[in-house]
Amino acid sequence: MSDQDKRVAAEAAVKYVKNGMTLGLGSGSTVNWMLQCLSERINEGLQVRGIPSSKKTEKLARELGIPLVDFSTTTHIDLAIDGADEIDGALNLVKGGGGSLVREKVVDACADELIIIADSSKVVSQLGTFPLPVEVLPFGYEVTMKNIERLGGIPVLRRKDKEVFVSDNGNYILDCQFGKIEDALGLHGKLIQLVGVVETGIFAGMVEKVIVARNGQIELTER
Ligand code: 5RP
Repeated sequence: MSDQDKRVAAEAAVKYVKNGMTLGLGSGSTVNWMLQCLSERINEGLQVRGIPSSKKTEKLARELGIPLVDFSTTTHIDLAIDGADEIDGALNLVKGGGGSLVREKVVDACADELIIIADSSKVVSQLGTFPLPVEVLPFGYEVTMKNIERLGGIPVLRRKDKEVFVSDNGNYILDCQFGKIEDALGLHGKLIQLVGVVETGIFAGMVEKVIVARNGQIELTER
């Protein structure tokens, strides 16, 4: 993973930001670079406002002086910029490595356009090496784990510093190994029907542009 490539991808994405836009602000280390680049443009006079997809993004955006709004003010996002854990050739994604998948999906899904930024380590021929994050209700999560096992997955309750990881929504994350994922949307459909599942980290058919940086060079893929 290259921090320089994350920054290169972030800089390229910020070029698509236009004056007056409402932006969806994704989450993760690549998005943190994007927030830096965005704040530089704001300091030069760009006028935008953002809706953050996690408490971490909200905190950094505030520190960087990026104006923020929430869904009580607007339900329309012109452009969302987010990261990913895996990106396949059909621009399907696995997201949620940072545990923000629910808010990311809410923000990304209501944007007119979604741009994904990543270094080249995120590009895969098939999804599934990165365990699929699934956000679940804490109540009865043991039952939800069993039901995920019945679908062929191997779920692991996410922990951080030995404590159970709790999402911004107060929920748990199950990191689920399904092997290579042949049918991303089909798997999402089965998981989302399970009682106790809040959302899955499969983002299928949502992306307009993927900007990958490889050794400092941009690779742009458009749907
Ligand atoms: C968080 C996410 C992130 O976008 C994803 O994990 C990528 O993060 P990074 O840019 O740090 O590799 O989905 O829930």
